[in-house]
Amino acid sequence: MDTQNPIAVQRLDYQPSSWLIDHVRLDFDLHPSATLVSSELTLRRNPDAPNAPDAADASSAELTLQGVDCELRSVQLDGRKLDESEYRLDERELTIEQVPSSCVVSIVTCIDPDANTALEGLYRSSGNFCTQCEAEGFRKITYYLDRPDVLSVFDVSITADEASYPVLLSNGNRVSHERLDNGRHRVRWHDPHPKPSYLFALVAGDLACIEDHFTTASGRRVLLQIHVERHNLARCDFAMESLKAAMRWDEEVYGLEYDLDCFMIVAVDDFNMGAMENKGLNIFNSRYILADPQSATDSDYMGVEAVVAHEYFHNWTGNRITCRDWFQLSLKEGLTVFRDQCFSSDQRSATVKRIEDVRLLRARQFAEDSGPMAHPIRPDSYIEINNFYTLTVYEKGAEVIRMMHTLLGADRWRQAMDVYVERHDGSATTCDAFVDAVQSVTDIDLTQFRRWYSTAGTPEITVREDYDASTRRYHLTLSQHCPDTPGQQDKAPLHVPIVMGLLDGEGRALPLTPGQQAEQLPDSGSATGQHSVLLHLREASQTFTFEDLAEPPHVSLLRGFSAPVKLHHESSNETLAFLMSHDSDSFNRWDAGQRLATRLILATMNEDPEAEASLDFLGQAWERIITDETQDPAVKAEALSLPSMDTLEGELQRVDHQLLFRAHSKVAAVLSERHADALESLLTEKQSGDLPLLDALAMGGRKLSNTALSLLSYLPDERWVALAEARYEHAGNMTDRMAAMAALCHSNSDARQRVLDDFLARAAGHRLVVDKWFAAQAMARRSTIVDDVIQLTRHSDFDTSNPNRLRSLVAGFAMNNPPGFHAADGRGYRFLSDQVIALDKRNPQLAAGLVSPLGRWKRLTTDAQQLMRHELQRIMDSGPLSADVYELVSKSLR
Ligand code: TRP
Ligand code: ZN
Repeated sequence: MDTQNPIAVQRLDYQPSSWLIDHVRLDFDLHPSATLVSSELTLRRNPDAPNAPDAADASSAELTLQGVDCELRSVQLDGRKLDESEYRLDERELTIEQVPSSCVVSIVTCIDPDANTALEGLYRSSGNFCTQCEAEGFRKITYYLDRPDVLSVFDVSITADEASYPVLLSNGNRVSHERLDNGRHRVRWHDPHPKPSYLFALVAGDLACIEDHFTTASGRRVLLQIHVERHNLARCDFAMESLKAAMRWDEEVYGLEYDLDCFMIVAVDDFNMGAMENKGLNIFNSRYILADPQSATDSDYMGVEAVVAHEYFHNWTGNRITCRDWFQLSLKEGLTVFRDQCFSSDQRSATVKRIEDVRLLRARQFAEDSGPMAHPIRPDSYIEINNFYTLTVYEKGAEVIRMMHTLLGADRWRQAMDVYVERHDGSATTCDAFVDAVQSVTDIDLTQFRRWYSTAGTPEITVREDYDASTRRYHLTLSQHCPDTPGQQDKAPLHVPIVMGLLDGEGRALPLTPGQQAEQLPDSGSATGQHSVLLHLREASQTFTFEDLAEPPHVSLLRGFSAPVKLHHESSNETLAFLMSHDSDSFNRWDAGQRLATRLILATMNEDPEAEASLDFLGQAWERIITDETQDPAVKAEALSLPSMDTLEGELQRVDHQLLFRAHSKVAAVLSERHADALESLLTEKQSGDLPLLDALAMGGRKLSNTALSLLSYLPDERWVALAEARYEHAGNMTDRMAAMAALCHSNSDARQRVLDDFLARAAGHRLVVDKWFAAQAMARRSTIVDDVIQLTRHSDFDTSNPNRLRSLVAGFAMNNPPGFHAADGRGYRFLSDQVIALDKRNPQLAAGLVSPLGRWKRLTTDAQQLMRHELQRIMDSGPLSADVYELVSKSLR
């Protein structure tokens, strides 16, 4: 990639492909450093292309295929070998000049999987071959029309040494196996479903598998396999259960059945992202498959369940219906994240799931929205598409889908999905077409709603309340404004669904007669729906009037977080404390607590005397929460968790991280001191030990006691270290062991080193457990943290070639340790830029994944800004950069 002259791709430049590939045959002759790939493409001109041939000039035209880092061995056209003069070849394309309008092109390339450290295309992980083709990795395997709107039927044969690679997998159904004479063997696969190249997959290795079956609603028996390295065989059962639950759920909720005879999952240790939905052959980062009580925490288990479901759900939303171009990525990702969120919330506590998802959105997606890379869920331009697998496309994309679900209600939503599938099954389509399908089943005009697809930034809504005792009227004025983002100023107002309710002074829900602008929630039967109405905020400023109220009501806005916005609502301590105990919406009860805590932390930071009063209210609320025996312990744990540093940062125009951190820690310490006895007893109470490991109550109990421990860790060491070490020693599962170790990492005690040594010894080389050992230390609140982290990069178990290991230390520090990363001398920034520079040469996608913390300089203090920009510039000047890192760093410097 020539970084002096990077080419940005524009959404509006989309043109259909001039050529289609109806069928492709791929033959792989696998060798670690020289794999031969022979392809045979059955091509024809696309009749729907703008420059489609008319009868006169249909005879021949140019064909351009993409290919990167593959050595071209030969090209044939309809069986005739082409001379070098008959095609042009450069770093990224192969162009054949005169191609008849329907023909067969055969290509042989040679690739080097062992030299592939970018983990894109065909590479080896722990000795096994695997592929990662999304978004544009297929072109690293062979020359092809590597774009998602070219759908082909694939026939694949794989030839490899049988002793080293007994298992040979690709998409679809296995059609034959033959033993060759030289110790090699060959397997053929046929995938009947036409698919784009990004969904192609191949795996070859010495793998063991667990098997199960699933019978679909229409009676088809599907073979399910999870393939892993043999020593991991005992850690796959939970993933298999999750898979079956997801298959059932998609049938029950969406009427969508699986469509092949077998469904395979492979877990690999070296993987850039979470997992990949290749048709019939999902490939996973092993951290989202392997789980047992001794190695996985409860949240690891939940991650496995969610990602297994996510990839499975892609079979319909992504694979059968795919994206026309990569700007439409949220078509499959936003929708599939929404689907996996709903699945997870149906498996256990819906409230806790919603809280976790909103925490992530506020902490990370809002930051993206306010930074240099802010983009709409459907971006308009990119240099490197890998940079757009973002929280915005995924998580905000899911919120946009969720808003439509809220507008329509569950039944209508299902109709909309039916129409979408009916219209687009087997094709590549757009976000616009998706909204068209939704529009076809509702009277609500979605024209304005569509702006969510093109607007970057987090809308901010300011709330004003007026109660008029003489008319018994209550006026609620909502004003929306979306801050400018790079390339977008003065944005038009959005259609924002606001779910809300009013409470009287006793906390009773006031019955609301839906007036002109408020309407009954479509799902008014549901728990959140009771006494809630839906306001359609469409104007820049709009006043909603509620009649016949005897007293000023308490308002509960944005129930269930009905839109991905920031609310500016001046509420008193009293009101927030009142909502914490009385709101009928469980999400908003939690959120009122978060708002009160935010007030308290910011007032503490500003040395505002108001802090005292907020502290009293929050302290009393915590008292009630801790002693309430009826509440779900997991929800209690969420209520006792303070908003994160990133979330608080989003509330500020300018942030001094050291000041904010001190205020945050001080509040944690004061609250912890106030409730020390109660928190301690949450720790020592008999654990719900007899419950099955993944029982919701058991998990909630662990979450609550570990939250208590993390609060206590803000007190002086002598108050809690012994307790934590005892908990570590008696822990019967990874959740408690990890939480105790993570707490001890904050201390300066001898126990810290004892526990770290013990943890690493017990890990016995289990990679995912060793990752935790690095992550816990990366997040420690210690004055020596930058040196600690640098020291850890020299540890014999640190390995920059493994993405999980790298991220557990480097991203763990840069993203989850604000006081450390923002160290006043800039050494945190320097550490990160050193890592990015070194890594970019091996794995650009992974390197680019680390850049974002360096882009957020605009809100920092002047000194910090300078230090940060200096590091960005240093990356820029460090030599030729990948397109990935170049795009992020250059946009961050602007
Ligand atoms: N489509 C994958 C998912 O959402 C994401 C993914 C996996 C990916 N590996 C990738 C995206 C590599 C880009 C590059 O589940
Ligand atoms: Zn996905």
